[in-house]
Amino acid sequence: MNQNTTKKPHINFLITGGAGFIGSNFIKYLLKKYQNYRVINIDKLTYCGNLKNLEDFIKNPLYKFINGDICNKSFVEKIAIEEQIDVVVNFAAESAVDRSIQYGEKHIQTNINGVRVLLEVFNEKKVKKFIQISTDEVYGETESDNPADENFILNPSSTYSVSKAAADLLCKAYHRTYDMPIMIVRPVNNFGPYQFPEKIISRFVTNILQDKPVSLYGDGQHLRNWIFVEDTCNAIDTVLSKGTTGEIYNISTNNSITNLNLTKKIINILGQSETLIKYVEDRPGHDKQYYIDSGKIRELGWYPIRDFEESLKYTVHWYKNNVNWWKPLLSKVKLNSC
Ligand SMILES: NC(=O)c1ccc[n+]([C@@H]2O[C@H](COP(=O)([O-])OP(=O)(O)OC[C@H]3O[C@@H](n4cnc5c(N)ncnc54)[C@H](O)[C@@H]3O)[C@@H](O)[C@H]2O)c1
Repeated sequence: MNQNTTKKPHINFLITGGAGFIGSNFIKYLLKKYQNYRVINIDKLTYCGNLKNLEDFIKNPLYKFINGDICNKSFVEKIAIEEQIDVVVNFAAESAVDRSIQYGEKHIQTNINGVRVLLEVFNEKKVKKFIQISTDEVYGETESDNPADENFILNPSSTYSVSKAAADLLCKAYHRTYDMPIMIVRPVNNFGPYQFPEKIISRFVTNILQDKPVSLYGDGQHLRNWIFVEDTCNAIDTVLSKGTTGEIYNISTNNSITNLNLTKKIINILGQSETLIKYVEDRPGHDKQYYIDSGKIRELGWYPIRDFEESLKYTVHWYKNNVNWWKPLLSKVKLNSC
C-alpha cells in the first residue's frame, strides 16, 4: 500500500507578523502541536519584527519565512497563489500605543489598509478561515460593573486602538457582504518571552537588569488585565477549531493589576529596590482600566491555564537569561515610559 495515501494532507497557514511577539509564539505553538500544518510567515520586519524569535524553526520543512508587507497587494496575491493558503491569521500590526500618539500614519496604513488588502485577496481566493487579531482596547475605558462583551460599543482612545477597531469593522463588513469566513479575537495585554522591550513588562525588566530606573505613567493606578502568551495561542487555536464564522471572541483572565503593583512585583522578583520607580507625566488619553467579558470563548471550552505569579516569574527570568536576545534591540527602543 502506498504510504502517502494514508497521510493527512497539509493545511497551509499564512501567519502575518509572525516575527513579532505573539505571532512568533503562535507559530511555535502550531508547529509543536500539529504535524500536518505548514506555516508561511510573512513579516515586514519593522523595529519589533525579529527573526531570532524563530531561529529554532528555520530548518523545519513545514516552516517558511517570506519578508514582505501586507499592504502590498501584488505581493500578498503572489503568496496566496504560490503557497495555496487555506487559513490566514493576521497578527501583523503597528502595535505600540505611544508610537501611535506621536505619529499614527504607519498604524493607519498597516492596521487598516493592510487588513483591507488581506481581505480583498483572501476573499477572492476563497480562504477557508481568516482570523483577525484585534485587541480589548477597541472598547476604550470600561467599568468593573459593566464589562465589555463582544457587542459592546467600540470607543477607542488612541490612533492605535482606532485603527484596530476600523479593521474589525472592515472584517465584519467582509463577512456580511461576501460571507467571508472571518473570526475576530480581542485579547487583553499579553506577556511572555520574545516581547520587544518597549512594552511595560519587557521594558521594565530589561531596565532593571541594567540598573536603570523605570518610568511609570501618572500615578501608576492604571489597571490592566494580563494573559500569558501561551494561553492566548491556545485561545486562538480554540477559535480556529470551534469558533463560528462571523463571530468575535474576547480573550481575558482574572489577572487584573495596577501598573504600580505590577512594577513592584517585577522589582521584587529581581530583588531590587522600589526607589527605581520614577513617576512621569501621564500618557495623553490614557485609558484608566479595561474590563472585558470572555464568557463566550469559555463556552467553547477555553480557559487560561497559566498562573499569573508563576508566569510572571518565568518571564522575568527568561529576560534575565536571554540578554543576548534583547540587548541588540535596545537601540530601536524609542520610549522611556509605560
Ligand atoms: N501584545 C499585546 O499585548 C496585544 C494585546 C492585544 C492585541 N494585540 C494584537 O496582536 C497582534 C500582535 O501583537 P504583538 O504584540 O505580537 O506585536 P509586535 O509589534 O510584537 O509584532 C508585530 C509584527 O508585525 C510586523 N509588521 C508590522 N507591519 C507590517 C506590515 N505592514 N506587513 C507585514 N508585517 C508587518 C512586525 O514586523 C512585527 O513582527 C497585533 O495585531 C496587536 O494589535 C497585541
